[in-house]
Amino acid sequence: MTISQMQSFIEETVADSLLSREEEFERRMEAVDRMDFLVIDRLDELLLQEDQQDLLLLKHRAESIKQQLESIDAKMFRRLQARIRAGEARGERFRELIREYTGFNAAGSQEAAMEYDHVDVFINGLFSFQTMPEQTKELEPDMVYYQKTPARIVFELVEKAGFTKEDIFYDIGAGLGQVAMLVHLLSGVPTRGIEFEPAFCGYANNCAAQLHLANTVFINADARTACYSEGTVFFMFTPFKGQILQQVLNALEKESLQRKIRIITYGPCTAHVASQNWLLPLSPGNGNAYSIAVFSSIS
Ligand SMILES: C[S@@+](CC[C@H](N)C(=O)[O-])C[C@H]1O[C@@H](n2cnc3c(N)ncnc32)[C@H](O)[C@@H]1O
Repeated sequence: MTISQMQSFIEETVADSLLSREEEFERRMEAVDRMDFLVIDRLDELLLQEDQQDLLLLKHRAESIKQQLESIDAKMFRRLQARIRAGEARGERFRELIREYTGFNAAGSQEAAMEYDHVDVFINGLFSFQTMPEQTKELEPDMVYYQKTPARIVFELVEKAGFTKEDIFYDIGAGLGQVAMLVHLLSGVPTRGIEFEPAFCGYANNCAAQLHLANTVFINADARTACYSEGTVFFMFTPFKGQILQQVLNALEKESLQRKIRIITYGPCTAHVASQNWLLPLSPGNGNAYSIAVFSSIS
């Protein structure tokens, strides 16, 4: 962008009255991104070459507009968090809230790709109470680093899981806890997360407590030795591979001798889970590793 294009963009942003409507989250997110990357970053580069007072003033103006837009989001998230805390946004009302603020219609969503978009940014804001923690424990070979399941995929998971009132959902390798919290808000079933990294587990428990999600609990444990005796539906976004994956599947097979269980997978672990002779595919996915697959125990 040239300086005059930056000036026009700033004036257009100030004049855009839609940006102050809370429901225009995606529009605001895009305006903030452009202000950051196309204006502020570019002005920083120019200021390294020449120290011009007018460039500095333009940068301050861009920063102040960006802050104003971000403060609309901060206020909106505080209000929506209070609604969740008060139990006013569960099940269909939570879906409505997501539809109202992001335009995303969970009911019509199928076969979402492994991509993040404004729905993820919105959920991140809704579930954000502290800065993201650093990893403190080294992962063993075959354990997979934290990467979150895209929010659209979690909505699809809930559509395909066919939850009943008796179900208890486990996210094995729960990371920062978004899957377990979203599944609880969308379906109402109690949810648990098993996570190897204590800092992630602490973060997730704090977030669930801030939202008063008493039926969502995160347990700091190695999935190989965790207790699964409560669970009926187990989700894995490829948290590990090789022997660890087989050991955890062996533990789940033992559970399946006590009660029928379902396993839901996403990512490359699906092929290995599909090869277990004690599981039947209920919804095999679309052949792409990055689609939701659902299996049921035979016994
Ligand atoms: C790909 S991430 C998935 C995160 C989360 N389930 C989601 O979908 O948003 C894998 C997670 O599994 C955790 N993990 C890896 N090995 C584990 C083990 N043996 N026991 C428990 N958690 C493990 C990692 O720390 C990481 O947070």
